[in-house]
Amino acid sequence: MEINMELTDKHIVLGVTGGVAAYKAATLLRRLIGAGGEVQVVMTAAATRFVTPVTFQALSGKPVFVDMWDDRIVDNMAHIELSRRADAILVAPATADFLAKTAQGQADDLLSTLALARNCPLLVAPAMNRQMWENPATRRNVELLRRDGVICLGPDAGAQACGEEGDGRMREPEALLESIIDFFAPKLLAGKKLLLTAGPTFEAIDPVRGITNLSSGHMGYAVARAARQAGAEVTLISGPVALSAPQDVTRVSVQSALEMHAEVMRRVTDADIFVAVAAVADYRVERISPQKLKKATGGLPEIHFVENPDILAEVAALPNPPFCVGFAAESEHLETYARQKRARKNIPLIVGNLIQEAFGGADNRVILFDDAGSHPLLVASKNQIARQLIEHIASLMEKK
Ligand code: C5P
Repeated sequence: MEINMELTDKHIVLGVTGGVAAYKAATLLRRLIGAGGEVQVVMTAAATRFVTPVTFQALSGKPVFVDMWDDRIVDNMAHIELSRRADAILVAPATADFLAKTAQGQADDLLSTLALARNCPLLVAPAMNRQMWENPATRRNVELLRRDGVICLGPDAGAQACGEEGDGRMREPEALLESIIDFFAPKLLAGKKLLLTAGPTFEAIDPVRGITNLSSGHMGYAVARAARQAGAEVTLISGPVALSAPQDVTRVSVQSALEMHAEVMRRVTDADIFVAVAAVADYRVERISPQKLKKATGGLPEIHFVENPDILAEVAALPNPPFCVGFAAESEHLETYARQKRARKNIPLIVGNLIQEAFGGADNRVILFDDAGSHPLLVASKNQIARQLIEHIASLMEKK
């Protein structure tokens, strides 16, 4: 299977209109290209007052178009030529003026003409002063655009260049990139609810000490993101990690295995799919000391352990379980141990990996084990592995 970046082969026209947020469009352009996108920038004349075309030309490696009558396009039909190969037009920032013109089907410059002549989806990231955004005329225009199938990304609330606070800030480039990737991702899990655990657990010994493991949470977070991209409604029960929650994913933060267990059991009856990625501690300290333990003067301290519940096995044993997926991180005998674990926990799919290759790093090598046998995936980033896993889950669920 060929592994691609998330926007490989996608042709995007990035329209930039005249607002202060135009400076953020340069970062957005870099992010789109970084994700593998092929990007053609088109600016309005007003946008060039904020940032010059040279910036976008240097970042995209392509000529930037502003003028309807640009004779660099041989047949002089820039409005047709530039969007002919486009998979989407993204206008960021989109001013109130651009929204108004597009809602009315007006076409008095290159970008508005491109929008009218397009044969592909149009996405807009509005950016304007709070009053302009709240003005009934803008509300009407946005409503008209939505009804016409235009996708409106944002705006966000927060501090504005004019010194005011409120709705109207352009969505940040990283968030816009996520929205574009979501937009293009096949909706293999549309309408499904996916519950997932990720990260390590922390089993307290006393108020300052505890037992944990080296799970970074990256793999679980990547699965949560890929599931959301595939259209699922995702709830992530996460142990302590240094990661921010993926966009549009509900995160519930927990510390111990018992807390993770309680949060999962509270939500699982609602879930269609349960993916247990967390590295849950097998044991916890029987009695957590309420006070900090002092160093013993004679002999070594004794800590008593009790077994933690096996969350995955318990979910799989429910009378009407969701589609259950487990992870088997092993340091040796991967095939044997992963197969045994799949059978013991009675789950349809387990993802096996060697901990030497999985923990902490960006890349991962995994093998999927299901009723049909084993399916090794190519070494890839955790995001790419996660997407392949979601595809596999979707195909198995379809066969059920
Ligand atoms: O039993 P073992 O820890 O090797 O199995 C790993 C799989 O089981 C992972 O999917 C992990 O998230 C899940 N698990 C769990 N609760 C535990 C232990 C493991 O959900 N207490």
